[in-house]
Amino acid sequence: MKKLLYQFDTDTLPSVFDNVVGYDGGADHISAYGGVNADNVGGLVEGAIFTRSPKDKKNTALFIGGSNMLQGEAMLRAIRAKFFAKFRVSIMFDCNGSNTTAAAAVAWIGKGRTLAGKRAVVLAGSGPVGQRAAVLLAREGANVAITGRKRAGVQAASDAIKARFGVAVEAIEAATNAERAAAIRGAQIVLATGASGAALLDAKQWQESPSLELIADANASPPAGIEGVGASDRGANSHGKILFGALGVGALKLAVHRACIARLFEQNDLLLDAEEIYSTAKEMVPA
Ligand SMILES: NC(=O)c1ccc[n+]([C@@H]2O[C@H](COP(=O)([O-])OP(=O)(O)OC[C@H]3O[C@@H](n4cnc5c(N)ncnc54)[C@H](OP(=O)(O)O)[C@@H]3O)[C@@H](O)[C@H]2O)c1
Repeated sequence: MKKLLYQFDTDTLPSVFDNVVGYDGGADHISAYGGVNADNVGGLVEGAIFTRSPKDKKNTALFIGGSNMLQGEAMLRAIRAKFFAKFRVSIMFDCNGSNTTAAAAVAWIGKGRTLAGKRAVVLAGSGPVGQRAAVLLAREGANVAITGRKRAGVQAASDAIKARFGVAVEAIEAATNAERAAAIRGAQIVLATGASGAALLDAKQWQESPSLELIADANASPPAGIEGVGASDRGANSHGKILFGALGVGALKLAVHRACIARLFEQNDLLLDAEEIYSTAKEMVPA
């Protein structure tokens, strides 16, 4: 029986990245749909749940991706509302790589150190990756803030985190590098999750900080999200700070993403969202 993955993407063009990793994770065939939302996903779900016998349903799975997390979450609710009794299949939620990237970054950040009581600031944390990273850092006991260029956007992200996870994350408006440098004052941990091309902090702004212990940057496309952090850094030491770059955490992100795809085909009732994907990342982070 072929392992079939149905990739439902909130964007018009479904993600090639998610498609490739789906195959690398063990799917035999992937059907990728763009423009999927809570209103139009119902028929697709029926096709997935009504076609195979109960014992064979584990060979069909769903993947939710795309840049719109709120739409993705609404789609997830709509999919689950279609399930009943044994008529269900496993689902992985990873809009824009949010869960896998955040899980890998926070697993590395927390490896061998306690995050409880630390101040952590997620720069440009209003996007999918930043929101999930903020949640995971807060769940580890850190006192977390996210920044965004406009108050309304960053507050909306903080509210969405509170609504979904019940976790309080401070929202800070910071539109310039100087304002972001002010936002990280007194923090021990900084994670940058800005869009590609957004340079969020100058090197001096972290190098001269007396409080900072660890800096991570998720942005893999030049220029770096944080000047002076190397893309391949993985625990490098500079100016007394531990550095992680996008490729430094990206290997674990990819490994976690593939492992989660493989898990989808082990049973027909898994939901792999932030919590489960983070547990996987913590198990997989290299010693
Ligand atoms: N390393 C990996 O393995 C890996 C995997 C997946 C993704 N990524 C990277 O992770 C990062 C975050 O992904 P994402 O999907 O969450 O990003 P995103 O939604 O595209 O952007 C995140 C935030 O960046 C801010 N932003 C956009 N343009 C900006 C600008 N010119 N200056 C300052 N801030 C700006 C926006 O916040 P405001 O509008 O609120 O300011 C936005 O919410 C991206 O760089 C992505 O490429 C890395």
